[in-house]
Amino acid sequence: MRRDHFVAGIDVGTTKICVVIGRPTDRGALDVVGVGTHPSNGLKRGIVVDREEARTSIAQAVAAAERMAEITVAGAYVGITGDHIQCANVTGRVRTGQTGEVTSEDVEKVVQSARDSVSLPSDREVIHTIVRDFVLDGQPGISRPVGMSATYLDAEVHVVTGMQNIIDNVEKCVEDCGITVQRSVLEPIATSLAVITEAERDLGVILVDIGGGTTDIAAFDNGSICHTSGIPVAGNHLTRDIARVLHISTEDAEMLKCRFGRAVADMVSVDDYVQVTIAGTGDAERVPQKLISEIIEPRVEEIFSMVKSDLRRAGVYHTINGGVVISGGGSQLSEMPRLASAVLDGLPVRVGPPRNLVGLAENVATPAHATGVGLAIQAAVNGASAISGAAAEPLSVGHAVASLKSLWQGLVSRLVPSRRRGSSH
Ligand SMILES: Nc1ncnc2c1ncn2[C@@H]1O[C@H](COP(=O)(O)OP(=O)(O)OP(=O)(O)O)[C@@H](O)[C@H]1O
Ligand SMILES: [Mg+2]
Repeated sequence: MRRDHFVAGIDVGTTKICVVIGRPTDRGALDVVGVGTHPSNGLKRGIVVDREEARTSIAQAVAAAERMAEITVAGAYVGITGDHIQCANVTGRVRTGQTGEVTSEDVEKVVQSARDSVSLPSDREVIHTIVRDFVLDGQPGISRPVGMSATYLDAEVHVVTGMQNIIDNVEKCVEDCGITVQRSVLEPIATSLAVITEAERDLGVILVDIGGGTTDIAAFDNGSICHTSGIPVAGNHLTRDIARVLHISTEDAEMLKCRFGRAVADMVSVDDYVQVTIAGTGDAERVPQKLISEIIEPRVEEIFSMVKSDLRRAGVYHTINGGVVISGGGSQLSEMPRLASAVLDGLPVRVGPPRNLVGLAENVATPAHATGVGLAIQAAVNGASAISGAAAEPLSVGHAVASLKSLWQGLVSRLVPSRRRGSSH
């Protein structure tokens, strides 16, 4: 067995389980050494509906990645998603002690006080506590307040919560496979680590992860996260629409969508046809390819209209100077950036495959792998080890992990994941 420093991410998606094993390099990249995917049976929109089926799917994906990496995974970072996720931006304040200098205890206290201001019913738990900014005596934009002089320290904090039982059930399925869940991470946060650049993050960017069952959203402003949410319409809805209108099987509809589908119907020639098999009768029928795109287009429009409404409601729509990055398997639909940009008032939209990869990078080069890669990156940033399975120490606020270089250091100082299995919150 290899003994290097490995990390593992398990994306428990609606359509597939994706496991990524990698090694952090000292240049801030991820050296990909193993990948495994398996259709996710036993799960619906991030919720376990059949524990045994879900366990088997996860175990198969893990086994494939382990074979490639030639290691056994004992611990991993796991993605969570679903309608039950809620987020809030809150603030906390503390008065510094007699020395008038901010101590690390002050920082812990102010973050805690912000977090405590989120009302938390007993069936919900905090998944992330992410510091957006520190403010010293009214002066914002302080990234590392420890040692600075001030009377008051304020913290602006983004808190993500979820339903305890739903999260526990996903974690149990992973642990049924003999793997310790080192941390659960909200999927769009993980995806953003894999696909968004520092420059975009600073300018203000929206990540839209279009999966099979859900479209996840994460908004960043001034380098830090300011909004997370999800909408229950995504790639599988396009497939179902095609199947219904053309009276064909879901499998055939999926194939047609991926091969001939375009988000903008006007881009398709009226002269191109494709043969389909009518479900039930088995009759063959010629269908204009343009019709496939005419079915798809309104759904894609609906998805981005919902994204726009969500961002407007959250008050972040006007902050997007760095544009929109779409990721997830659904983002691979031809012409999707063009239609997305039209709905989003001309904002620049690009497709985001995972970046900063070496090793077996081509095996995870598509946007469908972005969440799995992002989870492995988050594990690396936090100094976790896939081999020992031990949970990494939580990051202290405002401090980077020494062994990782610039890219991740920037992220580390802003991400303060707060949930560890067995921890009190
Ligand atoms: N080339 C393609 N063109 C269009 N859609 C595609 C293409 N490839 C994959 N998809 C769609 O991507 C979706 C799956 O995306 P992804 O693998 O990111 O989902 P997931 O992570 O399992 O789901 P979720 O994030 O909702 O839990 C499916 O609806 C699939 O049809
Ligand atoms: Mg996904």
